Amino acid sequence: MTPTKLKRSFNQLSIAFSFSLSMASTTTSSQFFLVVSIISLLACNSADGKLSPNFYGTTCSNLQTMVRNVMRQTVTREPRMGASILRLFFHDCFVQGCDGSILLDDTDIFTGEKNAQPNINSARGYEIIDAIKTRVEADCNDIVSCADILALAARDGVVLLGGPSWHVPLGRRDSRTASLSDADSDLPSPFADLPTLISMFAAKGLTAQDMTVLSGGHAIGFAQCSLFRSRIYNETNIDPDFATARRANCPLSGGDTNLGPFDNSPDRFDNNYYQNLVAQRGLLHSDQVLFNNGSQDATVRTYSTNSAAFFRDFAAAMVKMGNIGPLTGTNGEIRKSCGVINS
Ligand code: HEM
Ligand SMILES: *[C@@H]1O[C@H](CO)[C@@H](O)[C@H](O)[C@H]1NC(C)=O
Ligand SMILES: *[C@@H]1O[C@H](CO)[C@@H](O)[C@H](O)[C@H]1NC(C)=O
Repeated sequence: MTPTKLKRSFNQLSIAFSFSLSMASTTTSSQFFLVVSIISLLACNSADGKLSPNFYGTTCSNLQTMVRNVMRQTVTREPRMGASILRLFFHDCFVQGCDGSILLDDTDIFTGEKNAQPNINSARGYEIIDAIKTRVEADCNDIVSCADILALAARDGVVLLGGPSWHVPLGRRDSRTASLSDADSDLPSPFADLPTLISMFAAKGLTAQDMTVLSGGHAIGFAQCSLFRSRIYNETNIDPDFATARRANCPLSGGDTNLGPFDNSPDRFDNNYYQNLVAQRGLLHSDQVLFNNGSQDATVRTYSTNSAAFFRDFAAAMVKMGNIGPLTGTNGEIRKSCGVINS
């Protein structure tokens, strides 16, 4: 069922409902119509595979509180973890859709995504998702997917670091497989140019503007020296003071894993990232191409001066990214442990 059709049957439902209310003595036939409408609405809803923020409303009503509490403890102890889990969600959604595939360890049947080039020695926070899952299982056994936990945890990380909030549509199920090769081919490289970034996001149904606002995820967190070394030593569209500052902790040789913050407030989700791009202080090559006399300049400028617009568009784009290829209905499974498929 398409969203328009769904809306239409909502309208039918409310017409049927007000009709039955307007009858002083409710007829059996209008009650029947109401019941049929509700049943067909629910049936359509799940067959449609549409996610909904209230998916666990009756089956795990405390879910959001449980996720938020573990995330609050985590981010209080280590603020960067909010960033790391946001990135984990991005890397989940871009590979086979938001299906928890990134969380799977290697097995005899498949090689997982953890060892793909963009993830190995880089993606982090798996143990936090495991901890949340353990907490959630204690209250709601076999109910909540790891994919949904990751979606909620990513939102909470952003909120806890001062960013925008949004309602997270839920109802994703977990994959029974993962793909190292898809992770290698579908996740963008920090050395990518603008047309490549735009087309890699387009391949996931996201626009160039979605790509630019989602890159604002780099408002928080860090990158390793080996991924920005050529940028700070070899590129010319870079502020010299910024290059000098980052070189101090990223030598020409050695120190590959030394961390550099994306912006001056890596623990604070703000629009500083875009202000930096305008000042040619983007850390990765893939950051600065968003403001390099190209198609995204105007959008970057807008977000650099209008933090409310950035927050609003980021929240909407996160929902959109969270809708990439989810498993729903009877597809996939609710994993018992996020690192392994159910036997
Ligand atoms: C546009 C294409 C993107 C590229 C090429 C890219 C690339 C990277 C790279 C290379 C790192 C550093 C990894 C490391 O040093 O180990 C990183 C970190 C990060 N990325 Fe992206 N990214 C992109 C988009 C996104 C998106 C869409 C989000 C989320 C909405 C995101 C969120 C993050 C966060 C939060 C970090 C910091 C993680 C941490 O500190 O642990 N990135 N990204
Ligand atoms: C800079 O570019 C030169 C020429 O392409 C290359 O040989 C060198 O390795 C680069 N240096 C860094 C730090 O990337
Ligand atoms: C954009 O182009 C102008 C004129 O060609 C140039 O002066 C400027 O440095 C360029 N800016 C960036 C960010 O590349």
